[in-house]
Amino acid sequence: VETHLKDYKRPDFNVETVELHADIFETETFVTASLGVRKSPEAADGVSLLLDGRELDLVSIELDGRVLTDGEYTLEGEVLTLPAAPDAFVLTTKVKIHPETNTSLEGLYFADGTFLTQCEAEGFRRITFFPDRPDVMGSYRCTVSADKGTYPVLLANGNLVDEGELSGGRHFATWEDPHKKPSYLFAMVAGDLACREDTFTTASGREVALKFYVDHQDADKCGHAIESLKKSMAWDEKTFGLEYDLDTYMVVATHSFNAGAMENKGLNVFNSKYVLAKPETATDMDFQGIEGVIGHEYFHNWTGNRVTLCNWFQLSLKEGLTVFRDQEFSSDMGSRAVKRIADVRGLRASQFAEDAGPMAHPIRPESYIEMNNFYTATVYNKGAEVIRMIHTFLGPEGFRKGMDLYVARHDGSAVACEDFIAAMEDASGVDLSRFRLWYSQAGTPKVTVTRAFDAETSRYTLTFSQKVPDTPGQANKKAMQIPVRMGLLGDDGAPVSLTLEGETSLGPLERVLSLSSDLESFTFTGVEKEPVPSLFRGFSAPINQVTDLTEAELIFLMAHDTDSFNRWDAAQQLYANTILGMVAELKKGEPLALSTDLVAAVQTTLTHPTLDKALIAQALTLPSETELGDRMAEIDVDGIHAAREFVADTLAVALKESWRSVYEACKEVGPYRPDTQSMAKRRLKGLCLSYLSRVESPAFVMDAFASAANMTDELAALTVLVGMDSPESDEAMDRFYGAWKGDTLVLDKWFTAQALSNRPGTLERVASLMEHPDFDIKNPNKVRALIGAFCQANPWHFHRLDGKGYDLLADTVIALNTINPSIAARMASGFNRWKRYDEKRQGLMKARLERIKGTENLANGVFEIVSKALA
Ligand code: ARG
Ligand code: ZN
Repeated sequence: VETHLKDYKRPDFNVETVELHADIFETETFVTASLGVRKSPEAADGVSLLLDGRELDLVSIELDGRVLTDGEYTLEGEVLTLPAAPDAFVLTTKVKIHPETNTSLEGLYFADGTFLTQCEAEGFRRITFFPDRPDVMGSYRCTVSADKGTYPVLLANGNLVDEGELSGGRHFATWEDPHKKPSYLFAMVAGDLACREDTFTTASGREVALKFYVDHQDADKCGHAIESLKKSMAWDEKTFGLEYDLDTYMVVATHSFNAGAMENKGLNVFNSKYVLAKPETATDMDFQGIEGVIGHEYFHNWTGNRVTLCNWFQLSLKEGLTVFRDQEFSSDMGSRAVKRIADVRGLRASQFAEDAGPMAHPIRPESYIEMNNFYTATVYNKGAEVIRMIHTFLGPEGFRKGMDLYVARHDGSAVACEDFIAAMEDASGVDLSRFRLWYSQAGTPKVTVTRAFDAETSRYTLTFSQKVPDTPGQANKKAMQIPVRMGLLGDDGAPVSLTLEGETSLGPLERVLSLSSDLESFTFTGVEKEPVPSLFRGFSAPINQVTDLTEAELIFLMAHDTDSFNRWDAAQQLYANTILGMVAELKKGEPLALSTDLVAAVQTTLTHPTLDKALIAQALTLPSETELGDRMAEIDVDGIHAAREFVADTLAVALKESWRSVYEACKEVGPYRPDTQSMAKRRLKGLCLSYLSRVESPAFVMDAFASAANMTDELAALTVLVGMDSPESDEAMDRFYGAWKGDTLVLDKWFTAQALSNRPGTLERVASLMEHPDFDIKNPNKVRALIGAFCQANPWHFHRLDGKGYDLLADTVIALNTINPSIAARMASGFNRWKRYDEKRQGLMKARLERIKGTENLANGVFEIVSKALA
C-alpha cells in the first residue's frame, strides 16, 4: 500500500503519557505500555483509535484497568482497533517480542551482546502497540529490567529517576523524559558497556554530563567524538543561540546499525564508525566524518526533536536543515572550500543520479510504499542545498532571524516544511513563493548559459535558459527560482565590476542573480574587453550547468578564479570534457593524446607554492568513473575506464618529477595531528602516491605502506597496492589483516580496499570474501564495505559482461530480503540506473530485477525499489 501526502489528517487521538516497562530476558522480552490517551476536540463522534503493531504477541489488553474481551477491540494485520474509544482513558497492553532473533535492526534488537533500539521511522510499532506517527507526542517514563551481571548498563531517554535490584539477579532502571516527543525518538539500551564521561557548561550555566557508552575494548577511542560534541554544543549556541536542554547527553555506539546514527532525545545511538577513532585505526576522513555526524545528531535536538515533523513527507524539514547545519559547522571547524567541494562531489555522485532515475522524488515526496526508502540523498543533501539557497537569498542575518522565529513559533510541536518557509519569509520580508517549487518538483534543473559581448558599446550579456527535466509521474514543470552567485574575470585575471544595465553607480565584483523564468538575460555595462564568466560560485544552486567554455577558458578559471570552489569545478569540467572526448575517439578507433596545455595546467596547480594542499589534491583528483558515466546518455563502461586510465597514466608519466617532489615535501615528522593543515598534507601525499604507483615499482609503494605511522597513510598505500598485480599486493593485504583482525572497523577498510581494486579477478575475490569468517551478512557495515563498495564504486568490474556482478548483487538482495529488508532495499537500488547502459547489459540487469521481484515474501521496501525500476 502506498501512503499519500494529500490524504494526511491530524490525529483523532493524542497519547499524552507513555509508561513503558520492558523486561528483557535471553529468549523473550515483555513490554507493558500504559498510554494516557485523549481524544482531540476536532475528532468526530464515535471514531476508533488505531494502534500500529508489528510482530507483537498480544498478551493482555485493558482499558482503565478493565480487561477487554474479543470484540471490544480487533487485531487485524498490523492494526489494533478500539472502536468508539472514549474521550480520555488509559490503555494498557502487554506484549511479548523477540529482540534476540530480530535481524532487521529496527525496533528492539540484540546485537554484539547489547539490546538496543532504532525507532525512526516506524520501528516503535515493533516494541508496543502505538499510534506510531510523528504528530502524536507525549511524555515518556520507561523502566528497563534485565540480568544485572550480563547487562549492567540500562538506559532510556531523559533523566534517571530510579534504579534498584530485583530478584533472580536482575535489576531495573527508570528513566523519565521531561520533553514531549514522538515515538520515533524513543530509545532504550541494555548492555555491558564502558562509559567515558566529560562535561559541558552551557551559555546559561547548565552543567551537562556527556556520557559515551562503547565496548570495553573501544574505551580508548572516544576522545575525538567527545571533543566534537563539545564543539557542536558551543557552535550551536554561538551560531543560532540554541542551548542543550537536559542534564545528560548520552551516546551509545554499536557495530550493528542500519544508518549512520540516530538523534533519540538525550540518548543518541551511533554506528560505531561515527564514534570510535584513534590515529592508528581511523583515517582523516573518519575523523572528519565523526565530527560531522556527532554535530548532525546534536543539532537535531532543536531541528527535529524540539520542533518535529507532522508526517514523514516532511522529513527534509529536519534532515535538509540539519545537514545544512552540520555542513556549516564542519566548514567553521576546518576549511570551508574543502568541505564544500566534498559535499558537492557527494551530491553530484548520488543525488544527481537519484534525480535522473526511477526513484526521482521532490525533497518533499508525495507518496511512499516504504518510508525507509526515502532517507535519500534527495531528502538529505538536496534538501540541504535548498536551505542553503534560502540562506543565499536572505543573507546570514535574515536567515538567523528566520531560524529564531521558526523555533519560537513551533517549539514543542509537529510541523511541515511550509511552516519553515513561512517563518523565513515573515522574519526577513523576502518573498519565497516561487522558491517553494523546490519542495514539490523533482529533477535536477539544467541551466544553459550563452554569452554575447558587444565591444562597441562595452556591453556583456549573459542569457540563462532553464529546463527542469521530466521525472516519473511529473512532466511539464515550471521554472524554478535559482540563485546564481557570479563574477566576471578580465584577461589579467582581475575581477570586473558588475554594473547591470540601468544602474547608475559602479557595481560590486560579485553578485547573486536570481533566475525565475525559462529564459532571461542580464546585461552588464562598462565591460571593456570580453571577460570569462565564473557562474554558480560555491555551487550556488543544485543544477546542471551547461556552458560553452573552451579548454583555454577552463584552464584560465582553474588558475585565476577568486572562488576556490569554481577553480576546482573548472578543473573537473576540463577533465570530464577531455575524458568524454576520448571515449568518443576510442569508439572511432582513434589514438589518444592528452593536451599539453592540460598537462601544464595540472603541473602549475600541483606545484603551486601557496595554494591550500587539500585544494590542490581535490583539483588533481579526476572525476570518478561513475560521475563520468552520469554525463553520458548511454554509459560506456569500458570506454570510460580506458580513457580515464589513459589520462591518469599520462599525467603520472609526464609529471613524474613533480609528483615525487611534492610527495617528499608532504612527508611529516613528529606525531600524528588531526588539524586541517596536517590533513591537507596527508591528502596530497596520498594522491601523489596514487599517481606515483603508475610509474614506480610495487616495492616503492610497499615501502610507503610499511613505514606508515597512522591509518590515513597506511590505507592510502594499501588502496594503491591492492590494485597492483604483484606479490607485494597480496603480502600487504595479509599483513594488514594480521595486524587488525581484532578491530572490526579497520577490517571494513580491508574489505573495501579489495572491493575497489582494479585487478583482474576482483569479482571472484569479492565473492570469496563473502565467505570470510570476518564477513557477516547480518552486519550492515560489512555489507556496505564489501558488496556496497563493489557495486557502487567499482563499475568496471561490477558491470562485467558475463553478468556475474549482477548475480552477486541480486543474490545479496534476495538473501537480505528476509534478514534485513531496509538494507536489502538499499542494495537493490544498485540496479536503478540499468536503462542507461547498452542493450546487452540492460537485458542482464533487467533479468536480475525480475528475479528479485519474483522472490517469495518480498519485503515492501524491496518491492518498491524493483517495481519502480522496472516500470
Ligand atoms: N534521523 C537519522 C539521522 O539523520 C537517520 C535515521 C535513519 N532511519 C532510517 N529509517 N533510514 O541522523
Ligand atoms: Zn538527520
